[in-house]
Amino acid sequence: MNIIRKRGWELPESEATPEAVFFNRRSVIAGLAGAGALLAGGGFSRPAFAEEDPSASLYPASRNEAFTLDREITPEKVTSMYNNFYEFGSHKQIASAAQALKIRPWEVQIDGLCDNPQTIGIDDLLKKVSLEERLYRLRCVEAWAMAVPWTGFPLAELVRLAAPKAGAKYLRMETFLDPDTASGQRASWYPWPYVEGLTIAEATNELAFLVTGVYGKPLAKQFGAPLRLAVPWKYGFKSIKSITRFSFTEERPVSFWEEVQAAEYGFWANVNPEVPHPRWSQASEQLLPSGNRVPTQLFNGYGDYVADLYKGMEGEKLYM
Ligand code: MTE
Repeated sequence: MNIIRKRGWELPESEATPEAVFFNRRSVIAGLAGAGALLAGGGFSRPAFAEEDPSASLYPASRNEAFTLDREITPEKVTSMYNNFYEFGSHKQIASAAQALKIRPWEVQIDGLCDNPQTIGIDDLLKKVSLEERLYRLRCVEAWAMAVPWTGFPLAELVRLAAPKAGAKYLRMETFLDPDTASGQRASWYPWPYVEGLTIAEATNELAFLVTGVYGKPLAKQFGAPLRLAVPWKYGFKSIKSITRFSFTEERPVSFWEEVQAAEYGFWANVNPEVPHPRWSQASEQLLPSGNRVPTQLFNGYGDYVADLYKGMEGEKLYM
């Protein structure tokens, strides 16, 4: 594996963000080195997944063929051992630490400007929706990319269950907060819990997907079990993991990374090859595990679904 040699983001030390801050050069490089070790056959014994998960009988769900890919599905042994989940560490090899996460009971709170606020257990929520599999690209802001067979249901279904009021403009989502279990949450310089947000129009777009499974099985913990988001036209950090709360708001929520480093990570974070990150180009992306570099696509290739969402919003920083 020589993908480390090809890294496009190896910047002069002087341009790098301080160690304690997001996506630093060393963690990217260490992560890619980890992926390289996987390919060489090291560091991976079996796919980690929630074998004891009470929802196991719901999988595999049938595939929705509307969501196909122009690239091969990334092997499970790569995606399940190369993760961003800062609650369990600021490097990619968090899979083993993430097994400490207790995913039952798991309650999801739905509140804010909606007619049906409720707290619902994940297994009761699963009874109200029908699951399907979709093949989605995942493009991280760090300029690596994967292709993943997620199982889940449209986020629009959850919005429908909540019945937002007319004044609701945004959907704010929040991850669990449990520093005893998640050692990363003991790092006080981060604004825990992890928060993300979408407009209601984005949240009800056909592509916005709530993920409960992957590779035909319940979601493994390192992917953000038991409930995470997949919004494939946006950089990966928008796809919040292990969600415990959905709130309908009038005010635009401040996302976790926006609060950490607003000059580098904005609210919209739509993929665009022509808008570089302040510290590296977004023109191309490195496919894992091959390391092959391919051109980045506007909206990560999903423009037909989402471009209309942003008409008339040219004044916004839509691509960071
Ligand atoms: N969600 C939470 N709660 N914590 C995180 O650190 N990382 C984000 C996103 N969701 C993150 C998160 C980032 S930066 C990416 S690229 C994706 O999760 C990675 O998802 P994956 O590990 O399943 O590939």
